[in-house]
Amino acid sequence: MFSCTLLFGQKTTVRDIDRRVEELLAKMTLDEKIGQLTQSPGDISTGTDVSKDNLLAGIRQGRIGSVLSHTNFDNKIVMQRTAVKESRLGIPLIFGFDVIHGYKTIFPIPLAQAATWDMAAIENVERIAAAEAAADGQNWTFSPMVDVSHDPRWGRVMEGAGEDPYLGSRVGEARVRGFQGNDLSQPNTVAACTKHFAAYGFAEAGREYNTVDMSEQRLREMVLPPFEASARAGSATFMSAFQALNGVPASMDRHLLTDILRGEWGWQGMVVSDWGTFGETIVHGAATDDTDAAAKCLSAGNDMDMCSGVYERGLKNALDQGRITQKQIDDAVRRVLWLKFALGLFDDPYRYLDKKRRTETLERPEYRQASRDMAAESMVLLKNDGGVLPLTPQSPFKKIAIIGPYANSQGNKDYMSFWTLGLGVREYDSTKVVTPAQALKPALEEMGFQVTVAEVCLDATCTEKDYSVALQAAREADLVIACVGERGIDCGECRSVTSLDLPRGQETLLKVVSRGNKPTVMVLFNSRPLVFPWAAENVPAILVAWQPGFETGNALADVLTGRVNPSGKLPLTFPRHQGQVPIYYNHLNTGRPQTQMGQMWSSGYLDMPTTPAWPFGFGLSYTTFRYSDIRLNKKTMGMEETLEVSVVVTNTGSRVGEEVVQLYIRDLSADISRPVKELKGFEKIRLEPGAGREVRFLLTKKDLAYWNHEAKFKADPGKFKVFVGGNSQDVKEAEFELR
Ligand code: NOJ
Repeated sequence: MFSCTLLFGQKTTVRDIDRRVEELLAKMTLDEKIGQLTQSPGDISTGTDVSKDNLLAGIRQGRIGSVLSHTNFDNKIVMQRTAVKESRLGIPLIFGFDVIHGYKTIFPIPLAQAATWDMAAIENVERIAAAEAAADGQNWTFSPMVDVSHDPRWGRVMEGAGEDPYLGSRVGEARVRGFQGNDLSQPNTVAACTKHFAAYGFAEAGREYNTVDMSEQRLREMVLPPFEASARAGSATFMSAFQALNGVPASMDRHLLTDILRGEWGWQGMVVSDWGTFGETIVHGAATDDTDAAAKCLSAGNDMDMCSGVYERGLKNALDQGRITQKQIDDAVRRVLWLKFALGLFDDPYRYLDKKRRTETLERPEYRQASRDMAAESMVLLKNDGGVLPLTPQSPFKKIAIIGPYANSQGNKDYMSFWTLGLGVREYDSTKVVTPAQALKPALEEMGFQVTVAEVCLDATCTEKDYSVALQAAREADLVIACVGERGIDCGECRSVTSLDLPRGQETLLKVVSRGNKPTVMVLFNSRPLVFPWAAENVPAILVAWQPGFETGNALADVLTGRVNPSGKLPLTFPRHQGQVPIYYNHLNTGRPQTQMGQMWSSGYLDMPTTPAWPFGFGLSYTTFRYSDIRLNKKTMGMEETLEVSVVVTNTGSRVGEEVVQLYIRDLSADISRPVKELKGFEKIRLEPGAGREVRFLLTKKDLAYWNHEAKFKADPGKFKVFVGGNSQDVKEAEFELR
């Protein structure tokens, strides 16, 4: 019943597994079946003695099919042994964990990874994350999160791939491939879980868990494509979302889970709820009690209950009352058992619990290198007036001051996120992070610079004292590197904010430092687009470093010294002001688009332009690229034909550089209004100084289609524009007609 992708390369066949699932199912009691649909939290707070809690008793009685967020390796062995040796049917447990940006070796946050636009690199870090997680006994990660969002107030934009469904689709597929490889039973792969199905990223006002209301057309075009791409890439599982979509709590949304996911897409995997959401249907006011909630959530298409206990308390009643059928329960259990077979857990329940492999696999030095490479590749250069960067022996500076709260922080999970905090990763040790002071300082000193570090306002809001320490350091230096941004702890689930301003008095810090009259490089550690109008205007060089993970300082040194030429491009628009949110590049034109601020009777603001501070896809390099005009192989494209779009990109600077060449389209004559631009392709290329390369894209009617009035994806004949450039704003354009 499952997609063969999960078994590719295994000796076992789909039919073998189907048979074994049926044999086992025939022996199971109703309670045991409900047990397989029940997921329980591990002892995440202590991670030590599982025998003291109810977990083992539940496992022994066959009441628990899966445990999540458990870190202690030896206890996982105890739990698995209990399931296999002491429960009546010996069905192994499946261990789930949020492997969000690395497991033991911490990589940059997912949003930063998306800024590389480098799918091979993303796949590679997920492969490493999977190897570490699997070696530590985890079988299943709750990743990728493929939620598109237009709202940086929402703290979870850090976990996604930004605002664009096309980029999000490519990133989702890469992550699924990275986690699952091509054989789920291998001891270095884990099952992926594509989440949160669906539309969680469009919470009103960016407020966590808040309501979403959107048209079917927007859902199909903006939200669902990355889910469909991950499903087609073979994602073993999906997670239903927390929030209500068009009034229906996502965990009881049959339209999404059954009609679209299993029906239209033909996906055959297992669906888990998000934490406690079955119970929350009652809080939403959409179910009356556990029985009602259990009936509604199972009927919608969920299989496993993450931590609400609703199935355990309500499923039997729902069956007795005829609200659900035995077949519905059996199908859900089949999907859970199928996954356990595909992972090889029945053949060897301890396959992922091998101490020797654990020791050999966790935190290997080459994983650190991958983290460093990924972090350097993800950084986005927003500004470099006067070529302040890179810092080389030829730079006209001698003394450098590294200042700011993030010059040398070892607290608040800085340079990382909520996901590396306590939630299962209690053993995590913040001294494993290389800070800017620890790596950038020696790297610069080696090049002959004199470097001082002035740490200011580490935990609280910057004060006068901090400002004067920083100013003093700036006065004594020739160049200031200001490390500012957000705390790692403020990044992730339930971290929504109302203000996108550079927090804790840090823009004032930059202003005060400017009194020293020294050029400043602003390094931003962030998990979302932030707003810093003064710095945007007055600071000559700005680098978005995101939350880069363990290798923060080394990666920063690589980029600031030019060992790595920046090539990151923004996966989310950076607004000028939070009042512009939601702001995104692929918006509709309106009937009165504004071309200039102040233009009356046009769609704009009285006090601010409509344009962003930096657009989607933007990022500078230490070299420059020239784009030729677009060449089309035909001016008129038949419905069944392919259009070839090409440009020649030339490196016109003096350094080797990488460029993300982006292709956008605009439908000028559809039956409904279409976005002013839609990303339909990209390619990352590397060019030696002076070298040029032709980049070719192919467009078919599928790329030109939209969700129409007949509830279908279809392309309309008529005029289209095509754009190619290094970001969504600065582009070459051409026109063609679809017939
Ligand atoms: C809640 C989050 O929304 C989800 O993404 C995560 O996987 C689960 N908790 C499990 O920790």
